[in-house]
Amino acid sequence: MDLAGRVALVTGSGRRLGQAIALALGARGARVAVHYNASAGGATETVDRIRAAGGTAEPFVADLSDAEAAGALVHRVADAFGALDVLVNSAGIMERHPVPTVTPAAWDLAFAINVRAPFFTSQAAAARMGARGGVIVNIADLAAFEAWTGYVPHGVSKAALVALTRGLAHALAPHIRVAAVAPGAVLLPDGWAGAQSEHLVATTPLKRLGAPDDIVQTVLFLIASDYITGETIIVDGGRNVRR
Ligand SMILES: NC(=O)c1ccc[n+]([C@@H]2O[C@H](COP(=O)([O-])OP(=O)(O)OC[C@H]3O[C@@H](n4cnc5c(N)ncnc54)[C@H](OP(=O)(O)O)[C@@H]3O)[C@@H](O)[C@H]2O)c1
Repeated sequence: MDLAGRVALVTGSGRRLGQAIALALGARGARVAVHYNASAGGATETVDRIRAAGGTAEPFVADLSDAEAAGALVHRVADAFGALDVLVNSAGIMERHPVPTVTPAAWDLAFAINVRAPFFTSQAAAARMGARGGVIVNIADLAAFEAWTGYVPHGVSKAALVALTRGLAHALAPHIRVAAVAPGAVLLPDGWAGAQSEHLVATTPLKRLGAPDDIVQTVLFLIASDYITGETIIVDGGRNVRR
């Protein structure tokens, strides 16, 4: 897919990885819908940077813990731009909850944002893409494939996102492709101490954390790869091959 003039919605693009993906799509000529929830200032920055580089972008707010808001977001974007070609589901949460402390509310929130919202944005995107076609890229997590003791609901939700990717790829073919990227340690959660970062570097075969561009390049590859659907590409510096 040539991105010039295409309409791309990136959820969670007011900060960090989502912002990097939105900026890259804008730099390649896509008209970018910059979604945010709490990061209004960050979304404004994303929009301003795309426009300053000569691109087109608009901000859209939605709380994706609300499934109806997730679908409605996509329809607002498609109404505003007149089309939708690319959806990147990057918004997500990663809350630490050791097993004894997991509450039903924490479980439900992980699934609402990490799985249910990508389903309903994709459902609405498929309705708007129709036979014209399009591409959906989900940002999963290495946690889908590993067992992290403090993050069981998170890991299960991301494994479900990988399953969602396969299921939607089958259901939405042949016009719409659906794929995913599963990052390893790229941008660490706010507040993680130096020792945690050093441990991750030391235990990663390629001996470095990932850079946002490592994820961006894989998203662009999946958007461009017309014969890939249903796949999840792990981008983790080799952490997943240690076992
Ligand atoms: N960073 C990494 O190294 C890494 C590793 C593996 C997987 N991932 C995955 O990559 C994606 C982006 O990661 P990140 O680290 O850049 O994200 P992040 O800094 O943790 O930020 C979370 C993003 O999700 C959005 N979000 C959270 N709750 C929301 C809600 N209720 N409604 C709407 N949006 C909501 C946030 O939007 P607002 O700030 O506007 O509220 C923000 O853009 C996530 O899916 C994450 O699981 C990241």
